Amino acid sequence: MKLILLGAPGAGKGTQAEIIAAKLNIPTISTGNILREAIKNGTETGLKAKSFMDAGKLVPDDVIIGIVAERVARPDCANGYILDGVPRTIPQAQALEDAGISFDHVVSIEIEDAVIEQRMTGRRVCGGCGASYHITAHPPKREGICDACGAPLVIRKDDAPETVKNRLKVFHEETEALKGFYENLGKLRLVEGNQPIEDATRDIMAAIGV
Ligand code: AP5
Repeated sequence: MKLILLGAPGAGKGTQAEIIAAKLNIPTISTGNILREAIKNGTETGLKAKSFMDAGKLVPDDVIIGIVAERVARPDCANGYILDGVPRTIPQAQALEDAGISFDHVVSIEIEDAVIEQRMTGRRVCGGCGASYHITAHPPKREGICDACGAPLVIRKDDAPETVKNRLKVFHEETEALKGFYENLGKLRLVEGNQPIEDATRDIMAAIGV
């Protein structure tokens, strides 16, 4: 199963990717998490990405394409994977197609901007493994601690309200057009994102036929 999860910032891509990856026993590839890890480790990629991410802008396509090509070539991707947060522009989608990286399904998680702005204020993420929580909709078992790896939860710098507004603007201007791109390839499925997490999971599983 090779699956792309599309959607606005905060639509629930990361949350659903983790759940579905565990159900299907395939890895999830989040460019956001990979970039945050690179920033934490002070790598060359991290240095290139930081100012874009802090401002809620997209990291240049060539950086992203390099990251994805390297990651999908690893052995754990042999039976499939979920892309979370990539592609984000038509050139990124085209580069994946040109590299022979094709997909079984592309699911767009649909949600209104106003709901997203409320959601982001309650998000907490794991500083260790990147897992995503919400203080009411998806709380960890122990307050402030990641269920998966035990590291402390933090607030993402780009979840500041002004930066979220910017990220939504970028989504509408640059990423939303991908729906048309994948619709033309006959791969697009739409799923309602403004519903409880487990209901969205059920609808995604139905959309991809598992
Ligand atoms: P990235 O980390 O990918 O951020 P994003 O796309 O903006 O998405 P988010 O992680 O904010 O949201 P999500 O949809 O995963 O939602 P989540 O599941 O956490 O990218 C960050 C930055 O990196 C970008 O701005 C850019 O600079 C750069 N970047 C990354 N990829 C790039 C690319 N391909 N090209 C260029 N630049 C790139 O859920 C959000 C919250 O809601 C959580 O608190 C969660 O618990 C809660 N929640 C989830 N589902 C529900 C539900 N059904 N009901 C109630 N609450 C819910």
